[in-house]
Amino acid sequence: ARKIIIDTDPGQDDAVAILLALASPELEVLGLTAVAGNVPLPLTQKNARIVCELAGRTDVPVFAGCEAPLSRKLVTAEHVHGKTGLDGPQLTDPSMPLQDTHAVDFIIDTLRAEPEGTVTLCVLGPLTNIATAFRRAPDIIPRVQEIVLMGGAYFEVGNITPTAEFNIYVDPEAAAEVFAAGAPLVVMPLDVTHKALTTQARVDGFKAMGTRVGDMVAAWTNFFERFDKEKYGSAGAPLHDPCVIAYLLQPDLFSGRHINVMVEIGSDLTLGMTVADWWRVTKRPANAMFMGDIDADGFFALLTDRLARL
Ligand code: BDR
Ligand code: CA
Repeated sequence: ARKIIIDTDPGQDDAVAILLALASPELEVLGLTAVAGNVPLPLTQKNARIVCELAGRTDVPVFAGCEAPLSRKLVTAEHVHGKTGLDGPQLTDPSMPLQDTHAVDFIIDTLRAEPEGTVTLCVLGPLTNIATAFRRAPDIIPRVQEIVLMGGAYFEVGNITPTAEFNIYVDPEAAAEVFAAGAPLVVMPLDVTHKALTTQARVDGFKAMGTRVGDMVAAWTNFFERFDKEKYGSAGAPLHDPCVIAYLLQPDLFSGRHINVMVEIGSDLTLGMTVADWWRVTKRPANAMFMGDIDADGFFALLTDRLARL
């Protein structure tokens, strides 16, 4: 199985991504590393444990990481995800423990301990933990198999400012450093995730599982779709973060271009914008596989098939 670390700020869509990974035998989840993002760190690390328990996977270690971006004040997204980050269904507090080790140390230690090129970082939140690990231990960068992250936007521009996507905007310096680090990078921007929409028929598919997981996923997506319905008039909630995991399971669901992508950190107006050279109008070297499209029906078929196993 492919070894992954999931770096996350749950978040309903993070929760669905974690469930998808835990339901998939092709993936070995070495640990979940929580970061501040959608809600503050005490909630994201707690939510990560709630999701492990929901999947019956209390064996997966959960680590708490950075509580604030590298050099900025934390921006959160309760307006999308609710006060807890996982608003929607009734939740009970987790009983599985949080690990003592800091998430950044876990990332560094794991990349040093595992054979080179065998650990993939799946990043579903702001890039603070990853950038901090890379700053502290640059020797781990060439050891990363691949970074697959949800973040950024090109044609779809922004969801937190007119030009920036949330994960990149929250810690643009961290994102800029990770994009420039040289590790193989796959990016799932809003251009992809805004096509992965929970229509009524798809939510009915979750409910039809007749399982606790199916009911929870339906309740989560019902809750957080109201934001995108109002803002974008979209047909349902975009399942942003599960695209990262789906890519590892079925890469042919996605198409994109290997291009240069840089993150704006110098302008207040466009802070956190992912400047993607989609048309290759510069000579800047390609550093990211920047996805542009998804087979949404194939994606939801994969997702419901896997979630039904939990
Ligand atoms: C991203 O921001 C968060 O609100 C979601 O969990 C996702 O990771 C989408 O912009
Ligand atoms: Ca997220």
